Amino acid sequence: ERRREYLRVWEQVARVPLFASLGVVTLSEIVGKLRTRYYPARITVVRRGDAGDSMFFISSGEVEVRLPNGGSVRLGEGAFFGEMALLERQPRTASVATTKPTTLLVLYASDFYEIASHIPKLAEAVEVEAKRRREENLER
Ligand code: CMP
Repeated sequence: ERRREYLRVWEQVARVPLFASLGVVTLSEIVGKLRTRYYPARITVVRRGDAGDSMFFISSGEVEVRLPNGGSVRLGEGAFFGEMALLERQPRTASVATTKPTTLLVLYASDFYEIASHIPKLAEAVEVEAKRRREENLER
């Protein structure tokens, strides 16, 4: 079962652009830390104000991010979310819910910190997007 999950994750990381530039050795380390989770439509995955213990990569489906200012943003296959609470060690900045049946790859905070510390390229890409989102939320 463990092995089957490992192979399943391998198939799904291919759909996440963030992982595309990584070598096989680096990728295999990350794959070992990701878990697949299947959600039906209209399930709240992350709730604003909650403590953040993980981040998520969308391998298929779609989520809606409900921003504090009342706006919303949709994220589809290949995108990630839940990184802001981990980077800033702050509560979740928004609620995030599935809009259709969705497969997510979950990365726990402790694994994220470990990976970020020795794969700077990956950490930086996540930080750049978090910064863009933070600024977008201030502007709206
Ligand atoms: P986090 O704060 O951990 O939980 C809510 C998530 O919503 C947040 O991380 C981001 O991943 C995501 N998010 C917040 N603001 C935006 C935005 N403007 N665009 C896209 N995603 C966002």
